[in-house]
Amino acid sequence: MLTEETKSIIKATIPVLEEHGDAITTAFYKHMFEEHPELLNIFNKTNQKLGRQQTALAQTVIAAAKHIDHLEAIIPNVNQIAHKHRALQIKEEHYPIVGENLIWAIGHVLGDAATPEIIDAWTKTYGVIADVFIQMEKALYEEEEWHDFKPFKVIDIKEESAEIKSYTVMSDDIKVQPIKAGQYITVKVHPENEENDALRHYSICSIDTTKGIKFAVKRDVAGSEKGMVSNYLHDNVKVGDEILLSAPAGEFTVDAPQEKDIVLISGGVGMTPIMAMLEDEEKKGRHIKFIHSAYNRDAVPFKAEIKKYHNKENVQFFFNYSESVGRLNKTKLADIMNGNEEIYMCGSVAFMEAMLEVFNEMNIDRSQVHFEPFGPKMSITI
Ligand code: HEM
Repeated sequence: MLTEETKSIIKATIPVLEEHGDAITTAFYKHMFEEHPELLNIFNKTNQKLGRQQTALAQTVIAAAKHIDHLEAIIPNVNQIAHKHRALQIKEEHYPIVGENLIWAIGHVLGDAATPEIIDAWTKTYGVIADVFIQMEKALYEEEEWHDFKPFKVIDIKEESAEIKSYTVMSDDIKVQPIKAGQYITVKVHPENEENDALRHYSICSIDTTKGIKFAVKRDVAGSEKGMVSNYLHDNVKVGDEILLSAPAGEFTVDAPQEKDIVLISGGVGMTPIMAMLEDEEKKGRHIKFIHSAYNRDAVPFKAEIKKYHNKENVQFFFNYSESVGRLNKTKLADIMNGNEEIYMCGSVAFMEAMLEVFNEMNIDRSQVHFEPFGPKMSITI
């Protein structure tokens, strides 16, 4: 338990942390990787370069500090992060390393302003916040279908669109249970010419795992730092190769009451978890509006799967090709939706932000909108 004195120091120092948040987390990462280079095998170096994880961590620490009197308010966000941490196999023993380096960075950036009382208050507060994560992750580790990363053989690779390939993988030892629609798996690879392992999450295309786990990967611009693992998979991994996978994870799943209609909306490769949701919800007889935004028809993945639903009365499809008709906007969505549906959406951070703005214009309550961006969720600021 934190004392009132500790809490008031935390509240008083939030504006300073907000001001220096990015500087603190940048210093934190630099110092932590110098002290613990082995962690470069876990962290996403692309996110580091793009500053994504810096923002995510700074925002999370400040959000937690703001809610220090009622930490339960951050539980939904912790839940989403805890799933990612579990998928990356972040363990309890990693937390003190992050804590020590974060506190060091606060002292380093604030200089003399970081009094021993302030350092002490943040050390204790970090401990409390870390414990919320550790407890939630403990529960997820107890449920995980297998521990650590295990080898899976690639048994099929399919070109789903000009830029997207799906990979189906199977294990000799693990009979994988059906996944929950919307979940992802985490791949560990070690590209040649790279010093470290690289981990990435990829959404699963289908709940049916009897013929293997199928996930989809979008190629990134050639030579781009952004797509290091995706491009490695596209260019190097062949049928018969083995890749390492941790157990399926993620809480982006459909939980709307059965009588509610749902809108499944995706941009680009964001269609992947949405396909699993379509498969699952269609079977249950749910009324579904399936909206997909792509640059043009060539960019639409899973065309063969989509065809299977064309004569289903409970599913309506809408495709928006931005090359010819511009982006999805309020007028187009208001034609399709009645505003009472529960919305599940997936795509890039930019797509999510654009759609959230459109939903605001349509006066759709945020509680109806469930989403998973490809990138840290808390970097979304709308
Ligand atoms: C991802 C916060 C502890 C490793 C994240 C994300 C947040 C976050 C907000 C982004 C989630 C998303 O993608 O939506 C925190 C907080 C922590 C903490 C507040 C402490 C209380 C740790 C620890 C480790 C760790 C102890 C391991 C040493 C990672 C990694 C990612 C991640 C590897 C994936 C993103 C990337 O690789 O850049 N964390 N985290 N985190 N976290 Fe943590």
